[in-house]
Amino acid sequence: MAERADLMSTVPDPDPLMEKEPVPGFEPLIVTIACHYCSYAAADLAGSMRLQYPPNIRIIRTPCTGKVDVLYILKAFEEGADGVYVAGCEEGGCHFDIGNLYAKQRIYYAKKLIQQVGLEPERVEMFNIAASAGPRFAEVAALMTERVKRLGPSPINIKRI
Ligand code: FES
Repeated sequence: MAERADLMSTVPDPDPLMEKEPVPGFEPLIVTIACHYCSYAAADLAGSMRLQYPPNIRIIRTPCTGKVDVLYILKAFEEGADGVYVAGCEEGGCHFDIGNLYAKQRIYYAKKLIQQVGLEPERVEMFNIAASAGPRFAEVAALMTERVKRLGPSPINIKRI
C-alpha cells in the first residue's frame, strides 16, 4: 500500500510512468472535472489561444471542486473512463474558501479506494490551475493523457468488456 505522501502527491517530476511505453493503439477516455472560476476558464483560454491538447479529455464543469464527491469519480470509471482528474483553483484562491482543499482530501480518498479494487492510483489526480493559465491547462491534459496511455485501459471498464 502506497504511503499517504505518495498518494497525495501531484505528478512527480520526472514521472516514472513516462519511462514505460504507451500501450499501442490505446486512446484513453479521461474525465476532467473543472471548477467554473479557474480551471474551466483556463480551458476556455486555452481554446482562445488555439493551444493544442489531446481530444481524449471530456470536461465537466462544476461550480467549485468542493462539490466533487468521490462517487462522481467512481461513477466516471464505471461509465468507461480510463482516468479522472479534478482541476480547481490555486490553493488559497478558491471562490468558496476551501472547497479545493476538501477536493484534495477526496482525491486522496478516491486514490485509496480505486487502489483497493485493483486500479492504479495514478489514474486519479488533482491539479490547481488558475484562470489565466491556459497553457497549463493544455499541459495537464497532455500529461494525464500520456500517463493513462502508459497505464493502459481501465480493467473495470464494463462498457468495453
Ligand atoms: Fe474553484 Fe473552489 S471555486 S476550486
